[in-house]
Amino acid sequence: MVNIAVVVGSTRPGRRSRQVAEWVLSRATSRGGADFEMLDLADYELPLLDEPMPPSMGNYKHEHTKVWARTISRFDGFIFVTAEYNHSIPGVLKNSLDFLYAEWNNKAAGFVSYGSAGGVRAVENLRLIAGELQMADVRAQVALPFATDFENFATFTPSESAEEALEPLLEQLISWSTALKTIRT
Ligand SMILES: Cc1cc2nc3c(=O)[nH]c(=O)nc-3n(C[C@H](O)[C@H](O)[C@H](O)COP(=O)(O)O)c2cc1C
Repeated sequence: MVNIAVVVGSTRPGRRSRQVAEWVLSRATSRGGADFEMLDLADYELPLLDEPMPPSMGNYKHEHTKVWARTISRFDGFIFVTAEYNHSIPGVLKNSLDFLYAEWNNKAAGFVSYGSAGGVRAVENLRLIAGELQMADVRAQVALPFATDFENFATFTPSESAEEALEPLLEQLISWSTALKTIRT
């Protein structure tokens, strides 16, 4: 079975990302078809990118980068749970992506976002980044508007349509994660 990480893409105190990621992980785990694991950026405390060489050279100097690289290497696919900050993704998520290169290549990515417009503008940005990192981003996505999927705009209460939108994302992501594994050495 392929290993898929549910990436918690924001780290501020009081963040909503963890609630959403827990829902994704719980639904994905009960569905099965892959091994799913929470990957919370708050657990890694990466500094702002401080590697002297571009990540595409694969010549990592710092221990925190090597730990992050070993972590990302374990996974075949990723579900990025992202907030929308100023119509893009949180800086902490961009930084965590920028740190590495080969470890992301030829792996699949799916997106679950939230925001006033469901976080869709953040995901459009994230798809561009995924392309440059040679990740295959699946079409199906889950967009969670505050007005329908959060009680009082704060507590995550997934609607029926959110539940329905997650299944095709999981199906496509598992399929592409499995296929891409065959081309990695
Ligand atoms: C710096 C910043 C910028 C934001 N920009 C947007 C935005 O462009 N669009 C939007 O829908 N919400 C925006 N918001 C509101 C966030 O969607 C909301 O605070 C959300 O809970 C942030 O995710 P988090 O709780 O996981 O940090 C912004 C919030 C912050 C902190």
